[in-house]
Amino acid sequence: MGATPWKFESSSGHQFLVESGMQVRNRKLKESSRKWLERQLSDPFVAEAKRLGYRSRAAFKILEIQEKFRVIRKDAVVVDLGAAPGGWSQVVAPIARRVVAVDLLDMSPLPGVEFIRGDFLEQSCAELLEQMLGGQKVDVVLSDMAPNTCGIHRIDHLRIMNLIEAVYAFCQTTLKPGGAIVAKVFQGGTEVGLLTELKHNFAKVSHFKPNSSRKSSPETYLIATGYVGKE
Ligand SMILES: C[S@@+](CC[C@H](N)C(=O)[O-])C[C@H]1O[C@@H](n2cnc3c(N)ncnc32)[C@H](O)[C@@H]1O
Repeated sequence: MGATPWKFESSSGHQFLVESGMQVRNRKLKESSRKWLERQLSDPFVAEAKRLGYRSRAAFKILEIQEKFRVIRKDAVVVDLGAAPGGWSQVVAPIARRVVAVDLLDMSPLPGVEFIRGDFLEQSCAELLEQMLGGQKVDVVLSDMAPNTCGIHRIDHLRIMNLIEAVYAFCQTTLKPGGAIVAKVFQGGTEVGLLTELKHNFAKVSHFKPNSSRKSSPETYLIATGYVGKE
């Protein structure tokens, strides 16, 4: 005899009937949404994030990166790009002195986090960010920004590289000597040209896939520490 179905309520208030084996019955749901929901419901990181009150399971990724690379020091000034719904900012703010977060989407306020809603690729957003920093140099630039993917590897790769190039350009004007970048890239890699430049300008450049990053996801993280560029 199967287990009794139970109700799950999404953050947007929709209720779903969940059967044993994490199958979701709701005829109004598209197949892709049903699969996403089933994956969420059977994911231990989602459950743990909920238990700990984290805004997203992504919080565990930056916690794993922090544990391994110690990128964020006490008193650090941190810029968190692609911050919504706020999992990274939420766990970084208690460590850092200042966190300025940016996202295309709105993000509900978090203690110790200043927020800019905008497209980081737009000049106006970059200018607002510089204005908010008020000339203050940054210790760590985090980017969990992900482009909308289309499934065509070459195009998806170009889209994420576009974001990384913009992150690196921002770092060149704002990062303190000794500073660090943590940025989401897709496996298969960072462009050789950019990687060579990063290796030239940072003491150490690595790629790391946290355990909390889904195996099925092509994402991995570029971690560059010890910026040796000009102040
Ligand atoms: C994977 S989510 C980030 C999750 C977040 N790190 C957390 O812990 O909750 C990626 C975010 O990047 C944002 N994003 C993508 N492209 C962006 C852009 N050009 N400018 C600003 N935000 C962007 C998306 O809106 C999305 O919220």
